[in-house]
Amino acid sequence: MFLHRSEGMKIRELRLGDLEPERFIERKVEEIKSIVGRASALNALSGGVDSSTVTILGHRALGDRLKTYFIDNGLMREGEPERVVSIFENLGVRVELVQAKEHFFSVLKGIRDPEEKREAITQAFYGDIFSRIVRESGIQYLLQGTNYTDIEETVAGIKRQHNVLDQLGIDTKERYGYRVIEPLVELRKPAVREIAKALGLPEGIYSRPPFPGPALAARIIGEVTPDKVETVRKATQIVEEELSGMDAFQFLAVLHEDRVTGVREGRRDYGQQIEVRCWDSTDAKTASPTRLPHEILDRLAGRITEEVPGIVSVTYNITKKPPSTMEAI
Ligand code: XMP
Repeated sequence: MFLHRSEGMKIRELRLGDLEPERFIERKVEEIKSIVGRASALNALSGGVDSSTVTILGHRALGDRLKTYFIDNGLMREGEPERVVSIFENLGVRVELVQAKEHFFSVLKGIRDPEEKREAITQAFYGDIFSRIVRESGIQYLLQGTNYTDIEETVAGIKRQHNVLDQLGIDTKERYGYRVIEPLVELRKPAVREIAKALGLPEGIYSRPPFPGPALAARIIGEVTPDKVETVRKATQIVEEELSGMDAFQFLAVLHEDRVTGVREGRRDYGQQIEVRCWDSTDAKTASPTRLPHEILDRLAGRITEEVPGIVSVTYNITKKPPSTMEAI
């Protein structure tokens, strides 16, 4: 699957200290204009800082010739599709919501292996959903927010990031019917945040903790089912409410597959386990668990076991990256 690993990185990082946001924006707007010419492009917005930045850059370059879609894959956080569509409508960007829940659950059915899950999600996005939109609309380009770290980890063979194609030697024109344009490939997350800020995106977007492309599927061990997504979604909401004030790089809930014996109201309850992760990091390449106060851990354990049906155990990950990674799959 990691086709071109031996070639190493083809792209050079543009470091935060060398970044001049206005010049970068000008350069990228010109690049997008010259590649797309008189044709049209599409992009998928998830509401994360990378895809939000690309959405605004693309609209500056192409205006109405960029069509922006939010793919509702059924794996997003609570209320996310409606929230993102409304933020961008307030910024003057029309976002079309594409319902694809059933499709994603059907392609994930029966898959347990982490890399196979990632591969299935990539195929569903690029091969099924975007190819269909492109076929129906005649659009020729896909603009997306792949960043330097995504490529680095994929090329190194650590994790297949859902949005890395070209660096794996995949010819998207031949395979999917459109070309991919990636304006952010030279930047790591802190630099992307600077660009987002310079583009006038709201703080709720440019300072938002990262969220992975495979969404909550990256936080479920074993098969992804609608019930498991619902469980991890509820736990995620609690983790985000409790930890958003901690100034951490990222925080998340993982649903484990193994059950453990618990006790509720004096009776045996053989239930599920949630693992909480909270990371200090600057670039996602290395990370350390945040030293959370015990009162906060207590509150997380209390709320998750009370408010998320089926959960009898909550743990906190105390491992650094490496050897851990930030997401569980
Ligand atoms: P890992 O788990 O590789 O995560 O230590 C590093 C950072 O990347 C995010 N992540 C992804 N982002 N597509 C993305 O756009 C993906 O497939 C993906 N997988 C992980 C993760 O949330 C963390 O910020």
